[in-house]
Amino acid sequence: MKRNFLKTGVISLYVAGLALVAAGMTACCNSGCKADGQNTAEAVLANIANRKSVRHFVEGKEVSKADLETLVKAGMAAPTARNSQPWEFYIVSTPEGKQALVDGLPYAKMLAQASAAIVVCGNAEYMLDGEGREYWVQDCSAATENILLAAEAMGLGAVWTGVYPVRERVKFVQEALSLPSTHLPLCVIPVGYPTGEDQPKDKYKADRIYWK
Ligand SMILES: Cc1cc2nc3c(=O)[nH]c(=O)nc-3n(C[C@H](O)[C@H](O)[C@H](O)COP(=O)(O)O)c2cc1C
Repeated sequence: MKRNFLKTGVISLYVAGLALVAAGMTACCNSGCKADGQNTAEAVLANIANRKSVRHFVEGKEVSKADLETLVKAGMAAPTARNSQPWEFYIVSTPEGKQALVDGLPYAKMLAQASAAIVVCGNAEYMLDGEGREYWVQDCSAATENILLAAEAMGLGAVWTGVYPVRERVKFVQEALSLPSTHLPLCVIPVGYPTGEDQPKDKYKADRIYWK
């Protein structure tokens, strides 16, 4: 009897402890701090401020397949008009694939030293009808920025190199990667480990803000 009482007491304490931890975690998440006490808002804002275009990579240091998939997953978390998600992502990591892109993109030469490239494409089949069609550019741009921010957070370096709307670049990337005509490349993002040469710029200008 005494033993049962003790056992029930121990179980009750354990359950109460678990509930406290869960409640604490929920309260912490809702108020924007991590379980370790670090402030999430501060970390996120610092990551945004530290993001920079990285054009110098440690040669031969490969980004793992898992990390490349994590980057694309971050891209797919972006908001899209009417939740259309009108995108496709090509990960180019073979030397031949990278070289094929470098050959025709004069402003993406840094890809030769990068580990891989993520090519963010709009898919015409998922684009909205009528005037809303062009939202795909904003949707894929949001995905691109997510990828850049995720790279920064993961200690990787990345740079947005523009393709769409420059017609000859779109045609070139489609041919180099044998893309279906419905897949429109918005940009090529070389990804790799940064050498540290590229640093963030402070672009804040208070006089560009208007209060009405
Ligand atoms: C639409 C777009 C196209 C860009 N194209 C290129 C490019 O072709 N090559 C390149 O090196 N950087 C390119 N960039 C990166 C910009 O040069 C860079 O974001 C800008 O200089 C600000 O520097 P930061 O990214 O370090 O803040 C592009 C950025 C955007 C948003």
